[in-house]
Amino acid sequence: MNALQLSASEFRTLAARVTGLAADYLASLGDLRTFPEVSGVSSLKAFGEALPEKGLGPAALDALTTVLEFSRPPSPRFFGYVLGSGEPVAALADLLVSVLNQNVTAWRSAPAAVTLERHVVEALAAALNCHGHRGSFCGGGSMANLMALAMARESHLPANASGATAGVVYASNEVHMSIPKAMALLGLGRTNLRLIPTDECLRMSLAQLRTAITADRAAGRVPLAVVATAGTVNTGSIDPLPEIAALCREERLWMHVDGAYGGLAALAEPERFAGLEAADSLSLDPHKWLYQPLDCGVLLFKDAGAARAAFSYSGDYVRPLAQDRLEGFAFFDESLELSRRFRALKLWLSLRYHGLDAFRRAIREDLRHAQLLAQQVAASGRLELAAPVALSAVCFRYPSQEGHPADGDRLNVAILRRVIERGRVYLSNATLASGFVLRACFVNHRTTEADVARIVPEVLAAADEVLAAR
Ligand SMILES: Cc1ncc(COP(=O)(O)O)c(C=O)c1O
Repeated sequence: MNALQLSASEFRTLAARVTGLAADYLASLGDLRTFPEVSGVSSLKAFGEALPEKGLGPAALDALTTVLEFSRPPSPRFFGYVLGSGEPVAALADLLVSVLNQNVTAWRSAPAAVTLERHVVEALAAALNCHGHRGSFCGGGSMANLMALAMARESHLPANASGATAGVVYASNEVHMSIPKAMALLGLGRTNLRLIPTDECLRMSLAQLRTAITADRAAGRVPLAVVATAGTVNTGSIDPLPEIAALCREERLWMHVDGAYGGLAALAEPERFAGLEAADSLSLDPHKWLYQPLDCGVLLFKDAGAARAAFSYSGDYVRPLAQDRLEGFAFFDESLELSRRFRALKLWLSLRYHGLDAFRRAIREDLRHAQLLAQQVAASGRLELAAPVALSAVCFRYPSQEGHPADGDRLNVAILRRVIERGRVYLSNATLASGFVLRACFVNHRTTEADVARIVPEVLAAADEVLAAR
């Protein structure tokens, strides 16, 4: 027998141990620190042991408790970045995904996985009022944005055969960093990304967008695409989608919507996302606001022909053998990825288990928690809101004691460090025009009102400690 073989009963015993560990961990989440008491050096030491030449057998699993101890838990009081909370039914699906080990390249290789992925993507699109959009799962918003701009480039300034020529892309100055990165990778160049100023609600200014397009055309440059953001990473602002869609139609530009953070909130509040359906491409991240375990990104597009123009270039070894429309389908013709995980299973199982309505309600609860925190910040008398709360991200700060921005930045950096060290709530940060701010983002199905109420007292306690040490 091959040394890597495991009997069914050995697998059952190991799986029971791992699921037992996971269940205990889930049960303890509310009591755990929001960041473990670890350092870079202690984590290096914990995991520095040489890999064994001879297998440890079941004792190998003993070290999993150390992995848990050194991990930042998916706590009900985790409000950092834009990171979903990890829905456990989906986690169980991920175990089966790895056991099945389907390579979701084409129906030929993975009939159930390909069919389910196509079904889930189309059903998700329809639930967002993007009837008829198709697409695929990918690693996340950055990958989806890269693929979207590759499609935009190929449809307006074909480059796949003989290389890229410069074309101009427009986005607000609140755009996510993955867009300039995609400009660089696609050979369009970061300087050809026009960062359009935003209004007082941090939404792209339509007048300035129009002016920039006109100026570029007058200078002989080629406008290519507009990236509208539906939920900016800093503050959750939503660019004026219907107006941008109309302008893109008028100017014949590709409209991409980066909805990686906010787009899925259209399930709960569709009226705020009118215009989404007009997008030529749309990035979504179920690993953010559908609470799915990483990784789970989606790219939707209106025209599968544009996806094929950008991505279809297959070697013979993968070419589908069937003529049948369904059996001949291959994701690699419409995506950058070839070998792909069965990402649809977790979302499908999680949606079937809980039902769409439970997700809509969870999103509404996140939105309500953000408003609650905004009220508590305002009522604190010591903290100030730093931006309007458009979705579920709340930016706020402790005002500078010396009345100048650099001091405010230093103070809030120190407060954030202290909040994380105290380990009772986890916040992250953003840099707005006004400087460094603290940021709480609610995409967490475990959070309760009592958890929200911990944030302001924790920040004030951390601020008191920082000020006392000055
Ligand atoms: C608006 C926006 N776009 C894109 C991304 C990138 O997504 P990912 O981290 O899944 O690559 C993020 C991540 O926070 C985001 O907020």
